[in-house]
This record gives sequence, C-alpha cells and structure tokens, in this order.
Amino acid sequence: MSFKLLARRFYSSKIVKLTSESYPNIKRDSKYGKITPQTIEFFQNLLGSSSTITDNDLLSSYNEDQMRKYKGQSQLCLKPKTTEQVSQILKYCNEFKLAVVPQGGNTGLVGGSIPVFDEIIISLSNLNKIRSFDQVSGILKVDAGVVLETADSYLAEQGYIFPLDLGAKGSCHIGGNVATNAGGLRLLRYGSLHGSVLGLEVVLPDGTILNSMNSLRKDNTGYDLKQLFIGSEGTIGIITGVSILCPSRPKAVNIAFLGLDSYEAVQKTFQRAKNELCEILSAFEFMDKESQLQTLKFLKTSHPLAEDGEEFPDYNFYVLIETSGSNKEHDDFKLETFLESVMEDELVLNGVVSQDESQLKTLWNWREGISEASTFDGGVYKYDVSLPLPVMYDLVNETRTRLQDADLISIDDSTKPVVDVVGYGHIGDGNLHLNVCVREYNKNVEKVLEPFIYKWIQNKNGSISAEHGLGFQKKNYIGYSKSEIEIKMIKDLKNHYDPNGILNPYKYV
Ligand SMILES: Cc1cc2nc3c(=O)[nH]c(=O)nc-3n(C[C@H](O)[C@H](O)[C@H](O)COP(=O)(O)OP(=O)(O)OC[C@H]3O[C@@H](n4cnc5c(N)ncnc54)[C@H](O)[C@@H]3O)c2cc1C
Ligand SMILES: *[C@@H]1O[C@H](CO)[C@@H](O)[C@H](O)[C@H]1NC(C)=O
Ligand SMILES: *[C@@H]1O[C@H](CO)[C@@H](O)[C@H](O)[C@H]1NC(C)=O
Repeated sequence: MSFKLLARRFYSSKIVKLTSESYPNIKRDSKYGKITPQTIEFFQNLLGSSSTITDNDLLSSYNEDQMRKYKGQSQLCLKPKTTEQVSQILKYCNEFKLAVVPQGGNTGLVGGSIPVFDEIIISLSNLNKIRSFDQVSGILKVDAGVVLETADSYLAEQGYIFPLDLGAKGSCHIGGNVATNAGGLRLLRYGSLHGSVLGLEVVLPDGTILNSMNSLRKDNTGYDLKQLFIGSEGTIGIITGVSILCPSRPKAVNIAFLGLDSYEAVQKTFQRAKNELCEILSAFEFMDKESQLQTLKFLKTSHPLAEDGEEFPDYNFYVLIETSGSNKEHDDFKLETFLESVMEDELVLNGVVSQDESQLKTLWNWREGISEASTFDGGVYKYDVSLPLPVMYDLVNETRTRLQDADLISIDDSTKPVVDVVGYGHIGDGNLHLNVCVREYNKNVEKVLEPFIYKWIQNKNGSISAEHGLGFQKKNYIGYSKSEIEIKMIKDLKNHYDPNGILNPYKYV
C-alpha cells in the first residue's frame, strides 16, 4: 500500500513557518550569487519555459516538505529531462556560484530536499525513463527520477521485485532513495543499497558527467566510487542514473499481525522467527500501542486485532511478520507451525494471518500508515535511530517521561504541545523510529528532545540516523555518530569536488 503524500499536503490549515524564521541563527551566505533575469533567460533557453518554474504558487510545493516543518524561499525550480541538461545547469551554477538543492520525490524526513534560503531547486521528476532491464541477470537501469512504485510495478510484470520498499513508494524517486541510502521494509531480506546498487551516473558540481552504469556484480579495480554517492544526500553530486540488481519476485507472500504483552516478548519472538522461519522471513516490524492508537485516528477503521464490536484491542506491542518464498504450501505450513509454537509459549497473545492480497495490504497499512498518522495532529519530531535491541525501547519510555516531567504532553489537553510519543520500526535491522507527535512545532519541546536523544544514543554506541540521513534536522549532530577524523575526511571530499559549495548548502556538510 502506498500513500499519495502530496494529496494530503493541505490537510492542516496551519501555515508553515519559513526555515530561516524558525532557525534565525542561520544566515544566508553572501558568497552565493543571486538569480537575475539573465539567469532565468539562460535556463528558459536551455530547458524551455515549462521546465523553468518561477511562478510562486507552483513553487510552493517544491519549497515545503511533507511534514510541514521546513519551508524555503526558492524563486526558481528547474526540471531537466536529460543528464546533459543537468550537466549544463550545474556548469552554469558553478560558474556564477548559484547554490542548488537536488530534489527527488520530496518525501525525505530531515529537510534535506528543501532550500533554506533562495537556492535553486533541481527537480529530477522529468528524468523518469526506465532505460533497460535484463531478464537473465535481473539488472535494472533507470533514470534517477523514476518513482519507486513505478519501477516495482514494471519489475512485477517481469517476475522480479525492487530490492527496496517503503511507505513513501508512490512518491519517492529511485535517485532519492540512493541519495539517502534508504533502508525500508525489505532490507532484512535483500540488504542495503550499498550492496544492490551496481552502478551510478552522477553529475559532479562542475558539470562533469561520471558514468559508471555498470552491470557487474564483481569489480575489484580500485576505489568503489559509487559508494561515495549512496547516502550523500545531494551534497557531492546529482545522481541521474541508477543500475541495480533486482531479485526474483517471491510467488508466495504471507503476513501475520500479532499482539504481544511486552518488549521482552517482541525480542524473543524475533529470535524465534529467525530460527524457525529462516529463509522465508522477509520482514519483522514492531509497533507499540501508542503508534497503533495514533494510526487508528488516521485510518478510522477498526484495528485488525480488535474483537467484534470493539475498535481497538488491548496489547502493549504489535508485530508484523512477512514471509516470502516460492512454495505457498511450504510457507503456510512453516508459518502456522511457528505461530502455534510462539502462542503456546505465550510469547504471542493473539494474531491474524492474511488470506488474500487485499487483507495483506490492510495489515501493512497499520504499519506503513504510522508515519503519516504521526503528523495527523499538526506535526512530528522524528528520530530514526539504530540501537542495540535490548535497550531500544528504553529510549521511547525515557523520552515520554522527560516530556511528562516538563509538563508538555497530553493526549486530551489541547493546550499541551505534545500529543503522544510513539515507537515502532524495523526491529530486524535494529532500527527504531521514535516519533513525537505534536499539535504544533515548539521550541520548548525541541529543547527537551535535543540533544538529549542524540546523547543517549551516543552513550549506547548507536547511530543518530539509521536511514533518513542528516539533512537539515541533524546537521549539527553528526559528531554524535562520527569521529573527528571521519568528519574531516567527509569535509575534505566535499571541498575537493565542490570547492564553491554550491550543492545543497546549510545541510550536514
Ligand atoms: C510515509 C513515509 C515512509 C518512509 N519510510 C521510510 C523507510 O522505511 N526507510 C527509509 O529509509 N526512508 C523512509 N522514508 C523517508 C524517505 O521516503 C526516503 O528518505 C526516500 O529515500 C527519499 O526519496 P525522495 O525521492 O523523496 O528524496 P527527497 O526527499 O526529494 O530528497 C532526499 C535527499 O536526497 C537528495 N536527493 C534527492 N534526489 C537526488 C538525486 N537524484 N541526486 C542527488 N541527491 C538527491 C536531496 O537533496 C535530499 O537531501 C519515508 C518517508 C515517508 C513519508
Ligand atoms: C516502559 O514503561 C512502561 C510503563 O511505565 C513499563 O511497563 C515498561 O516495562 C517499560 N518498558 C521498557 C522496555 O522499559
Ligand atoms: C561503546 O563503545 C566503547 C568503545 O568501543 C566501549 O568502551 C563501551 O563500553 C561501549 N558502550 C556500550 C554501552 O556498549
């Protein structure tokens, strides 16, 4: 199931503040040039008027993120159709020191794709062709602006699957996925993009086109340069093409949605699932009660584990298990045996298993819908972290306690800025999503949360970003997860390839 994010953009009538007003200590760097009538004329000649957007109404959707947290003041959005055009744009911008922000599907959750001041937005959405697919090897080559769901539907027709899946698949771009090294729901099975991406085409800040659209699984000839761009968040090059290895599409898929009593039981069930479901286990997601209550407000249908006549069941934790394999009977038998054994041992208290495609989607909704449901009341502070499993849920509890102590949280009292704290995530990957759902963004709330959460994670040797990246939100906090030497190497690379600093400024580098 996917959500068309932009359709809900105007759900809340609250006006989004400019990023430069919310963060007044950040100033526009005067080294950057300003766009002039000549700049616009140059791009109109290069791209045509319909791909050179200057109209304020049209620009507004490119200037805002879907969490309604960040808002830029760009006066120009460019929509190139070819790699050559991207190259010409960057060459020009580099010459006149015009700052730019690459933008994919604009579903990022850390403000990385939104300009802070008047940076030119380069939207990849018109660079959207599937270039080729090899039936034998499963290698897909696409333009960066191809929407993830479009690629996956195309692959489904060929009996293949995209090795990445996430709730924003109806809007996010493959280029954006690579730029953020997105993790998502299939990482447990298919691994990270650092493994499945075989090659990239990238335009460097001076306009140079780096073409390494390889089809090789093995290539040990020196530095693996494409890795530099995977997860770089648009700070060192604009990705225009992606070559990626896709696995065969599993013919049998089952979903089980389970109710559990404690976080302890969630961990034990995960261990048992790995042992007993083995090669057919393809996702293991956990959700706390609060996340499901928040999703109930948003989906407005009764919960899959609710008893007749009730709206909501009474479990503290929920787990979604997906199995995928090639033989339905074999998988059904394995899953049933597993469920019987964990219920007998009272690790799992209740559960439902999908019987058809539509039930499968409904069950996924209660997991994938949490992200959007979290913004339902007005906004959300999102933390996407890696932690050792045994301590992972403690962070949710401690964050809730801190907000209670500061008297900032209440589900019912609308004068309190925070509605609830919810925890869920890809437990199979040691990845927690901690969402603080708010009625409005509020500096006092932000001060309670940051840097407390980052310090807590550092103390446990975790990562302050498991998958969303650093972008604008975490720009000042990289030191909690990277050493000084690592940060220096990142800066050296940035300065070497982008000496004018035109690519995605004011973000984490
Ligand atoms: C409902 C929902 C669920 C989500 N679930 C997950 C999840 O499970 N796992 C996960 O990892 N993320 C998740 N996300 C976050 C987001 O969808 C991912 O980060 C996604 O990869 C962003 O892709 P995009 O095309 O929207 O990129 P954008 O948001 O447009 O951009 C993200 C960053 O990449 C840069 N960028 C974009 N395109 C390019 C390019 N072609 N070249 C260079 N730089 C570029 C931008 O400058 C920006 O810094 C979720 C988001 C939502 C709204
Ligand atoms: C979180 O807090 C709840 C309620 O205070 C408590 O019952 C639970 O054991 C705590 N969970 C963890 C993992 O500490
Ligand atoms: C974190 O890593 C450091 C250095 O390797 C180690 O000394 C420390 O005990 C670790 N802390 C935890 C909580 O694992």
